[in-house]
Amino acid sequence: MKTNNQTILSFETSCDDTCIAIVKYSDFENFNILCNINIHQKNMCDKYLGVVPDVAARNHLINLNVSLQQALQQANLTLNEIDIISCTIGPGLIGSLIITEFFAKSMALLLKKTFIPVHHIEGHIEMLQESPEYLAIIISGGHTQIIHVKSAYECIEICCTRDDAVGEIIDKIGRAMNLPTPSGMHIEKLALKNIVPIHKENIKIVLPNKLEFSFSGLKTYFLNMITDDNHAYVCDLLQQTIAYNLNLKIKMAMKKTKCTKVIVCGGVSANKYIRTILYYCIFADSSLCTDNALMINLAAYKHFRNNYINDIHIQPFASKKLQHWFDHIRDFISK
Ligand code: KG4
Ligand code: ZN
Repeated sequence: MKTNNQTILSFETSCDDTCIAIVKYSDFENFNILCNINIHQKNMCDKYLGVVPDVAARNHLINLNVSLQQALQQANLTLNEIDIISCTIGPGLIGSLIITEFFAKSMALLLKKTFIPVHHIEGHIEMLQESPEYLAIIISGGHTQIIHVKSAYECIEICCTRDDAVGEIIDKIGRAMNLPTPSGMHIEKLALKNIVPIHKENIKIVLPNKLEFSFSGLKTYFLNMITDDNHAYVCDLLQQTIAYNLNLKIKMAMKKTKCTKVIVCGGVSANKYIRTILYYCIFADSSLCTDNALMINLAAYKHFRNNYINDIHIQPFASKKLQHWFDHIRDFISK
């Protein structure tokens, strides 16, 4: 008989971090986080000044074994005591996704466990554990989107970025100032040191009157502004510009959809200044905004409750809209 008591082991390796979590669920709202580990590929980022997909994938191969042993030890469990094995199936770097898909599926098949794939964006959203209907604002290194989530498996994308994602320009501007990658939290710290007043006319609005994002123009504007002695000012203006534009587009989306509940997720949502400007929105704990395996675990439990299990033929994907992923799940469940 299906019981709500489930222990889920989850993996998230859509980019460079190798993340693993184990959570024991006793009921819908009652769960115990037994471990939530992130192994950062800092050496790669420092050496190559960013993420090299091939190197990231090879590192996951090594890190997965190490982190699995560490996770089981922390959770004080054996593999036999795990009920469900879950992993991010996309979107992300295809090499990194394939390695973990193979690892997770093989484990599930050999050990006769339930396998549950998760879409990376739904992981970020499920981190907040809010019930629909709401607008989900995803601001990360790979995504900038506003999605209208209407029910468990029904959503529609309201807008996205035409070009760069917001976290992407943060990291590129940070790199131009020789800050470590990812640069978000370093930009946040430097911005606090700025003493030069920020004038309103220097805050550029992207695609005025349009419910759409575009960040490549802003990136060029900021890259051309950097000198040896204005880094704190650039960071402050960058944060304010991003927050101003997000606020503007969110208000437009709220008006269009008449939806008043707004959640914000993804790495950039850890930023304290952005959180202050978007005070009317719901955020995850700052430490859980960036990629982690706990968010994949929570999404996997949602799927388990809705009977989306053992979709063993699903293949990793580099990109797929959340609404298309939900279409796939609805199809799978109804068969
Ligand atoms: O969600 P995430 O961990 O990975 C993706 O799915 O892309 O987001 C990573 C992004 C990076 O661009 C990083 O610089 C940014 O989130 N980030 C921040 C902060 N912490 C991380 N941006 C601004 N302020 C922060 N405190
Ligand atoms: Zn992410």
